[in-house]
Amino acid sequence: MRKDFLWGGATSANQYEGGYQEKGRGLSSMDIVPTGGNRQKMIKGHINQLEIKESLHYPTHESVDFFNHYKEDIALFAEMGFTAYRMSISWSRIFPKGDEEKPNQEGLDFYESVFKECQKYKITPIVTISHFDAPLYLVETIGSWKSRKMIDYYLRYCHILFTTYKEYVTHWITFNEINMILHAPYMAAGVLVEENNEKQIKYQAAHYELVASSLATKLAKEINPNNKIGCMFAAGSAYPYSCHPEDVFEALKVDQENYFFADIQVRGKYPSYALKSFEKNGIKIEMTPEDLENIANHTVDFISFSYYNSRCIARKESDAELTEGNLFATAKNPYLELSEWGWPIDPLGLRITLNNIYDRYQKPMIIVENGLGARDNLENEQVHDDYRIDYLSKHLKMMKAAIEEDGVDLFGYTAWSACDIVSASSGEIDKRYGFVYVDAEDNNKRIRKDSFYWYQNVIKTNGKNL
Ligand code: BG6
Repeated sequence: MRKDFLWGGATSANQYEGGYQEKGRGLSSMDIVPTGGNRQKMIKGHINQLEIKESLHYPTHESVDFFNHYKEDIALFAEMGFTAYRMSISWSRIFPKGDEEKPNQEGLDFYESVFKECQKYKITPIVTISHFDAPLYLVETIGSWKSRKMIDYYLRYCHILFTTYKEYVTHWITFNEINMILHAPYMAAGVLVEENNEKQIKYQAAHYELVASSLATKLAKEINPNNKIGCMFAAGSAYPYSCHPEDVFEALKVDQENYFFADIQVRGKYPSYALKSFEKNGIKIEMTPEDLENIANHTVDFISFSYYNSRCIARKESDAELTEGNLFATAKNPYLELSEWGWPIDPLGLRITLNNIYDRYQKPMIIVENGLGARDNLENEQVHDDYRIDYLSKHLKMMKAAIEEDGVDLFGYTAWSACDIVSASSGEIDKRYGFVYVDAEDNNKRIRKDSFYWYQNVIKTNGKNL
């Protein structure tokens, strides 16, 4: 393992900060999505009421209150030995409505304080500009990424971030899991869809995001040539359910759909398989020659991705059992165990995925999310999460093998999540991922889990003790 390998953890503003109306913050797209009820329908973009209802429960409004605990939390990250912390900025904390000329100074100050804490402990911040987050006002008024105008608002926001935090941040990720717009368009991008026109809407919105990402890359370099920009997608290679050629072909198609975004952000052009598929499905993207030029000229410096599981794909006629698992149905892989939330556990799949991505792009990579969502049991101020240690240890062994035996160029790993936070898909706090337990019953008290000490040792030995 290289000596400067970045070890750390990740979080997102919307799931971690709370303080949803503090110090001038405006409402954000996910603030109106409750736990339970119609949540699944809502995150998939099938909603018609953009409002907060008193009768419903919104755990992210308070979340685990990083807003008031950031010093304590970053000190805990430093105690674990983090050399990197991947976090995101809440867009509506900086531009409460999204269309203002001037930013909210108090919002900017908050993140400056966060970055100062990171600097104090020599932790490199890796900052996601939009992690499942858009100002609600822009969703209501222009339909978020359905509109080309969103590109300008996003760039104004980027400009403020790149200039204000120039001395603190050089690693930026333009969009979290950009490919999730195809599966959960409201959660991923604040985009609502119509049933008979879903693909058209999603790919058009994706195009505007891709243009915005290329222009943000250009801007970042103009403001600070040392800036490094990454794309980020939800990875996990697609396995054919059997060696039946049709299963193999379907799996190939699923992989292409998944790589579509990175193909554009890394290679700088729309892949031919996508153009043919648009043609076949009657999808017409509004795009200008200038868009294509920007996409071609401003590709990313590194590739970041999340890995939770592989996918298993069967042809339509197959009798394979289906599993909903991770927001979209795939065939159930009979060789893999499932987490409590039905997500397959596949450490070797991480090694396969790392190899596939590296073979495809030959660019530096970083894993920015990987972890196990599980119910933890707090007893006598202790959490014995050996299941999480087991999950992480097996995945890290595969990561190491991919680096040392297969030669992939990986410069870091940030586990999901640094601290317990609210789950994105289910909206529960009980689906915990962190090394630090947060006790909501006791003023959001922070408690080190067993995995905290285990990870501390992993980092200390630079991955020797797994
Ligand atoms: C990724 C997201 O999809 O998976 C995170 O980038 C999310 O925001 C993580 O929290 C785990 O998913 P979930 O739904 O269990 O929170």
